[in-house]
Amino acid sequence: MSKKSVHKEFSKYSEQYNNYNIIQQLAAKALIRDVKNKAKNILELGCGSGQVYKNVTWNFDSYTALDFSASMCELHPKNDKTVVKCLNFDENAFFSYLDGKKYDLVLSSSSLQWSKNLKRIIEKLSCVTNELHAVLFTSNTFKHIQVISKKESPILSEENIKEAFSKYFSCEFETIQYKLEFSSKKDLFEYIKKSGVSGDTKLSFKEAKSLYKEYALNYLEFEVIYIKAFKK
Ligand SMILES: C[S@@+](CC[C@H](N)C(=O)[O-])C[C@H]1O[C@@H](n2cnc3c(N)ncnc32)[C@H](O)[C@@H]1O
Repeated sequence: MSKKSVHKEFSKYSEQYNNYNIIQQLAAKALIRDVKNKAKNILELGCGSGQVYKNVTWNFDSYTALDFSASMCELHPKNDKTVVKCLNFDENAFFSYLDGKKYDLVLSSSSLQWSKNLKRIIEKLSCVTNELHAVLFTSNTFKHIQVISKKESPILSEENIKEAFSKYFSCEFETIQYKLEFSSKKDLFEYIKKSGVSGDTKLSFKEAKSLYKEYALNYLEFEVIYIKAFKK
C-alpha cells in the first residue's frame, strides 16, 4: 500500500469530509466517552478536522494534534492551547519530534490502521505516555467487498493491531461491527469513495463494474477496535 495514495484519498474530499464520516464521528465520541483521565497535556495522532478534539470537554493545558495532510491540519480548530503539526507517523521526523516529550494522554481515532509499522509507533508512544486510547478500523471493514473483488484489505487486521499494542502496554480491547444502511447502491458506493477509509484498493473499470453489479447488500460493513492501553 503506498502511503501517498492514502494521503490523497483524505485530502481530495476534505471539504465535504463532514458528510461522509458518520462512523468516524461515532468512534471519536465513544473513544472520548470512555476516557477517565482528565489529562492536562494531550497528544493526538491523525487528528483530521478535529473530531476528537471537539469531543474533549474537560479543561486541559495543551493539545498537540498531528496529521500528515496539510488540508486536514488547516481544518483543525486552533487556539492558544493547541499545537497543530503536519507530521507523518510513519516518518523519522515524527519520531524525532516526540524525542524527550511527555504527555498525560495520547489519543488516536480512525487513523492508525494506515500505519506502515504500528509496533514502531506504539513503542515510541510507550516512551512518551503512560496512557493511550485509540480506535482503529480493522481489515474486516468492507468485508463483503473484499470477498466479491477478491482483494485483500489494505488496512491492518485485528490480530496485528492487538499484537502491536500488547507488546508495550497492558490493554483492554473491544471490537465492534457497525452496519451502515443505504437507500440506493449509488449512495452506498459514493460513501465508500468519499469516506476516507477505503485507502488505495484500486479496481479496474471492469472490476468496479462487476463489484457494483454483484454487491447485493443494502449496507456497508465496518469493524473497529477500541483500545485502552496503560503502561506495563
Ligand atoms: C479517517 S480520518 C480520522 C480523522 C479524525 N481522527 C477523526 O476521528 O475524525 C484519518 C486521518 O488520519 C490521517 N493520516 C493517515 N495516515 C497518516 C499518517 N501516516 N500520518 C499522519 N496522519 C495520517 C489522515 O490525513 C486523516 O486526517
